[in-house]
Amino acid sequence: MKSIEQYQKGIKRVLITQEEIKQAVKKAGRFIDSIYDGRPILLVSVLKGAYVFMADLSREITVPCEIAFMCVKSYFEGTSSSGTVNIVMDLDHDVSNYHVVIAEDIIDTGRTLKKLVEILKGRNPLSLHVVTLLDKPDRRVVEMKADMSLFVIPDHFVIGYGLDAAEYYRTLPYIAEYGGD
Ligand code: IMP
Ligand code: MG
Repeated sequence: MKSIEQYQKGIKRVLITQEEIKQAVKKAGRFIDSIYDGRPILLVSVLKGAYVFMADLSREITVPCEIAFMCVKSYFEGTSSSGTVNIVMDLDHDVSNYHVVIAEDIIDTGRTLKKLVEILKGRNPLSLHVVTLLDKPDRRVVEMKADMSLFVIPDHFVIGYGLDAAEYYRTLPYIAEYGGD
């Protein structure tokens, strides 16, 4: 448990403001609308980090949209890139009937999303696109590129707008650099 003093110390500096996020999420909504041009989609997000982004993005999309959640756990040994992603909670939709858009919080090493894309592609969706709120390309270990990255950021550990440090700070309305305990 964090004291309020420890909690506040963890918020080092704001990197992306609430207003900047809002404008970028609007743009992402228009991007998705332009790709699908009226066709219905399934917006998929991975718990928990993308829950805030998913909620806001889903309200900027005007094509018919269903939402679905997955929960995955990633296990990676040392620096080896041969990781496994275990599905802790699976989708409640058969994606073979859907144009799928994955809404991700952040692409860091790229391992989690790469595996997730492989898993979902294996289920033969009508199409698959990836939109990520944040992208840290300097940290990439496996090749993974989103169709749209709202913000490309340097190699800092960040918190807020769904992203956590030990489960705290998800509820901040902006994205900040984490200052430790
Ligand atoms: P990847 O498999 O290394 O790309 O890991 C992606 C996951 O790690 C994200 O979905 C986040 O949950 C977590 N993560 C990576 N970088 C950060 C960060 O700076 N802040 C909070 N969570 C992060
Ligand atoms: Mg996390």
